[in-house]
Formats: sequence, C-alpha cells, structure tokens
Amino acid sequence: MRDLSGKCVVLGVTGGIAAYKMANVASALTKAGADVHVIMTENAVKFITPLTFETLTHNACVTDTFDRSTPYEVTHVSLAKAADLILVAPATANVIAKMANGIADDMLTTTLLAARSPILVAPAMNTAMLNHPATRQNIRTLRERGVRILEPVSGHLACGDTGSGKLPEPEELAAAVERELLKDRDSMKGLRVTVTAGPTQESLDPVRFLTNHSSGRMGYSIAQEAVARGAEVRLISGPVALDPVSGAEILPVTTAEEMLHAVQETLPDTDILIMAAAVSDYRPEEESDSKIKKSDSDLTLNLVRNPDILGWVAEHRHDGLFVCGFSMETENLLENSRGKLSKKHLDMICANSLREPGAGFGVPTNVVTIITEDGTEPLPKMPKLQVAGKLLDSIMEHRV
Ligand code: CTP
Repeated sequence: MRDLSGKCVVLGVTGGIAAYKMANVASALTKAGADVHVIMTENAVKFITPLTFETLTHNACVTDTFDRSTPYEVTHVSLAKAADLILVAPATANVIAKMANGIADDMLTTTLLAARSPILVAPAMNTAMLNHPATRQNIRTLRERGVRILEPVSGHLACGDTGSGKLPEPEELAAAVERELLKDRDSMKGLRVTVTAGPTQESLDPVRFLTNHSSGRMGYSIAQEAVARGAEVRLISGPVALDPVSGAEILPVTTAEEMLHAVQETLPDTDILIMAAAVSDYRPEEESDSKIKKSDSDLTLNLVRNPDILGWVAEHRHDGLFVCGFSMETENLLENSRGKLSKKHLDMICANSLREPGAGFGVPTNVVTIITEDGTEPLPKMPKLQVAGKLLDSIMEHRV
C-alpha cells in the first residue's frame, strides 16, 4: 500500500459476522501509516473485541458499551472532524437505514451525522435483506448524497444461502480506502480553473426578471472538486441559493453581459474554462425603471440576443487553454451537442438530457455524456460531485 501517513481513517464496524475481517483492514491501514480509529456498535462487540482493534491501531476503540469515563459527547464530534475518510464495514441493513434517515442514536451514527469527510459504506447482509426494497431505497438515498457504496460480492453467506451480500475481502476494502484518500491529491496543483455556474437573470423592471431553472449545483460541484485537487479556482456564479465553495474565489454576477465581462477578465489567467452556467440567450430589449403596470390587453415582450460567451471565447482563446462547455437538450442530445462542440470550438462538451430521470436542473444527481473530438463517453447516473470528478479526470486526460 502507498504511504497514508497524515491521514485519519475512521472505521465504523457494525454487527455482522464479517466484522472479524475488519481486523485485517485496520492492520493494513495502520501499517500504511494512517491514524486509524475504530467505532463499534453494541452488536459489533459481540463479534470481535475492541481490544483486537486497540492492539492493532494503538488507538482507543470507541464503543457504546464502555464505561462513561471517556468524554463521549466530544469524541464523536472530534472524530467526525478529524476523519479524512470514514469506512462503514460491514454495514448492516440497520445502520444503512439509520444513515439514510439521519438517525443518530449511538456513537457510530452520531459520528456519521456530524461527519464532513467522504464516507464509504460496504453493505454486508443476507441476500433477501439486501434486495428488500427498503434497503435498496436506503442505499440509493446514500448514493445520491455522495456516499460511495462498495458493492457486496456474491458467494456462500453465513446464513447458509448463496447470493449477493458478502463483504469484499479486507485487501479490497483497504485498497478502496487508499484510492479514495489519495484520490487525485494535488493532481491539478498549479492549474488555474474558471468555472461558471448557475442561471443568469435579465431584468424586465425592478420587480421581474427572465431566468431559468439552473440551481448552480453542477458548477459548484466542479469548483469544489477542482479545489480538492489543488487547482486555483475562480467561480463566476449567477444568483444561486448555495453555500460558497470554500477555497474558491467567487465572482458573483447577475446578467449574461456581466458573466461575459467576468469571463473576459479572467480568461488571460485561465488554463481550464468550464462553462456550466445556464446563460439566458435573450434579454428584454428594454429594462423599465419603474414597475410595468398591467393593462387589460396582452403584453408582448421584445427580447434581444445576449452575447454568446463561448462564442467570444472561441475568438479570443490563447494557446494552452482548455474549454469545456455544457449542453442541455430535450431532443437529439448527442447530435446537437457535437454540433456545439465544433461550432463553439470547444475541446469538450458535457451533454445532459433534460428528458432523463435524475439528470439536469434541481436534482442532486446527473446523467451526462462527455464528448470530445476523439469520442463519446456516457456516464451512469451519479451524484453531481462524482460527475464533477469524472469530468475533471477526463479534462486532465485530454489536456495536452
Ligand atoms: N453559453 C454561452 N453563452 C450563451 C449561452 C450559452 O456561453 N449566451 C454556453 C453555456 O454556458 C454552455 C454552452 O454555451 O456551456 C451551451 O449552452 P446551450 O444553452 O445548451 O446552447 P446554446 O448555444 O445557447 O444553444 P441552444 O440554446 O440553441 O441549444
């Protein structure tokens, strides 16, 4: 395994027969230099002793059955804060259900609810429990929230059945932790990334504006992922109701013209431009200073074209700049997106269909196809943060 020193890993062990396998995981991660803390549920303690983990990790094992001399109230928060990654394995149907519903009634679930680090969950249970619609739904919920599920493997189960539900082998679990912890660390260091996000708003009068349904989540996820990979990130953001991305410089704009100006200003210092914003193509010809009062007749609005920001970029791009656009379509997704790729002189376009369930505006997931001159890479439905990761991976591969 690669060096994991400086990394804090929390292992959440729940009451499944496979709990014994976690001793090897704890040992492998500790040997690789990670600071490993184990939290066991009350039932887990029936399968493997806390002493095993304490001996292997050289850290106190947190359980709900210990005497109250340890400062529990702060332990869960401090571990949640310190963790670079939490692996819940084996994860029973019960703990998965609690996680999906935000229940925090023991040390492990309380820590999970307070955690901000990536979380990996390795479900392990009887096949029927795994396939129960409730468990399926709970796993889907966790996935959509960005939790990574390590798929159970098929084989002979402790209950005597044969089927899916086995915990992967310890080496695989440790490797998944290693991959996640060292994922792309500093892989974008030194790169200047500009991301546009959200809708634009075009005022009609002091009260009303034209806009679209963009929430900004896709662009914000890209900015967040680029920051995590060490890039210097500027986020040109239309009006959104999202928390700012820490580590990114936010340039707030309202209209398409303001967004164009912000892009014009940042372009000379940009290595990678990702236009995830849903820019209004039109604006009202005139913006009234006072509120437009209604009359008995119909109202006709005259709209004029907004500047095409990517069109401007195409004419002013400098050597070494990589430009990725987004395309939203309801029909002929791939064909229209390929058209935009060449018309706007893009290096890449990320196409998402508004017809696909779980894709597009206002949902936490997206279903995209990454298109370049070289080909087309369709991605399955995944949380927007994971889409962002895949997109950045692809950009890094295609950049020369
Ligand atoms: N875009 C832009 N300036 C605009 C409109 C869109 O730079 N005035 C960018 C978007 O940020 C996106 C890409 O162009 O990255 C494609 O946007 P989309 O609205 O799908 O395409 P349009 O070229 O506007 O074509 P249409 O609306 O006809 O589909």
